[in-house]
Amino acid sequence: MTVEIKKVKYLPELRRVAELADAIWHECFVDIISEGQIDYMIEKFQSLDAMCRQIEEQSYAYLSVYDGDDLCGYIAVKPESDDRFFLSKLYLRSDKRGQGIASLMIERVFKEARSAGKRYVYLTVNKHNDRAIAVYKKTGFEITDQVVTDIGNGYVMDDYIFTYTL
Ligand SMILES: CC(C)(COP(=O)(O)OP(=O)(O)OC[C@H]1O[C@@H](n2cnc3c(N)ncnc32)[C@H](O)[C@@H]1OP(=O)(O)O)[C@@H](O)C(=O)NCCC(=O)NCCS
Repeated sequence: MTVEIKKVKYLPELRRVAELADAIWHECFVDIISEGQIDYMIEKFQSLDAMCRQIEEQSYAYLSVYDGDDLCGYIAVKPESDDRFFLSKLYLRSDKRGQGIASLMIERVFKEARSAGKRYVYLTVNKHNDRAIAVYKKTGFEITDQVVTDIGNGYVMDDYIFTYTL
């Protein structure tokens, strides 16, 4: 296993991340939210257009995760204007889970946050996403709040907010 995590700089790679996101979201959220909500959220947050807007207008950065030459995961992060760093997306294809790659991904997020001079990393996670919650707890994140976000079209995101102190 040779894992490489690097910033996505060019549109063709971002397009491949969008395709990967579509596949992972349909697999991992199927028992948590409806198919309609998955499609809606992908269009709103993970389509190529949406990701381009996040990068250009909201200071997001996407990082791609490779095992060899296999693009198998991705991360999205955003520095806030205060001392927080937002871990917006952490996604790994199912066949690559349980192999230590997630810890490398989270370490990379901490590194990015430290170089941005931040003190906290925070994220939101669906209250029923048991595996991700277990991973965040194991890594040292703590639940600091909860939030229900109306995302339109009759859908809501029912999340915990987790925070890690660097
Ligand atoms: C979240 C995700 C990236 C984590 O990757 P993963 O490969 O499943 O994580 P791992 O199995 O490597 O677990 C990471 C660490 O947490 C630990 N862990 C995992 N499940 C655990 C549990 N139930 N209890 C205690 N520790 C646990 C692992 O032992 C590992 O620690 P280690 O590296 O020291 O051994 C991956 O599951 C994923 O992409 N899920 C679908 C998308 C998703 O839900 N993303 C998060 C949205 S907020």
